[in-house]
Amino acid sequence: MPTIERHTTKERGVHAVHAISFIILLLTGIGLYDKSFFGITKLFGGVDLSRFIHHWIGVVFIISLFLMYFQWKGEAAVFDKDDKEWLRVFGGYLGKDVKAPPAGKFNAGQKMFFKMIFWAGILFGITGIIMWIPQILALPKIIVQLSYILHDMILIGLVMGVLAHVYLGTLANPGTISSLLTGQVDEQWARHHHEKWFKQVIKKGR
Ligand code: HEM
Repeated sequence: MPTIERHTTKERGVHAVHAISFIILLLTGIGLYDKSFFGITKLFGGVDLSRFIHHWIGVVFIISLFLMYFQWKGEAAVFDKDDKEWLRVFGGYLGKDVKAPPAGKFNAGQKMFFKMIFWAGILFGITGIIMWIPQILALPKIIVQLSYILHDMILIGLVMGVLAHVYLGTLANPGTISSLLTGQVDEQWARHHHEKWFKQVIKKGR
């Protein structure tokens, strides 16, 4: 089966760092959230070490978010008229007879997710820094308290988004995960899921 390159090694590396840092942040964050979850902190060497890891992996998460934003923004941040139609028919996911318009490198659902994780990440970063060094920033107490609430609320939204993302990138669309594992996808997969992008790649001579 002929294949084409979907993501370079660098792009896959950035995504891997971002995804792994997300999982570490989630586990250390849950462990630190409440005494009843303190058991999880043992995985990371205790409460103090979990807090240290959470802070500094948070920095890795934000840096990799920006790297991911800049590597994919050309294809993921701009919506065209096909994307609007794609959203209107919800990518054809809601019925067998509904056909979604052809997608570019990323479809409109992926573009929405891209936007969501970018802004969620920025808010995570800001609220995280406020909670990390409140004395140095000397902000009003209400801002610090609001940061705690906002940080948790964004987390709930992001976890739901990431669960959907992982499902769509694995079980729901077989063949997609190879774009991250080897960087290559089947031509048939590319034509089916991202027809506009496939035609561009072929036109450019791969
Ligand atoms: C840990 C499990 C994860 C898996 C299995 C996974 C899977 C994938 C796959 C297969 C792609 C490429 C899709 C394509 O080429 O069409 C992708 C892209 C992407 N991933 Fe992940 N991912 C994971 C975690 C994350 C996390 C935690 C984030 C951010 C919080 C994230 C953000 C993105 C973004 C922004 C893209 C590009 C746009 C998109 O395809 O939606 N991923 N991921």
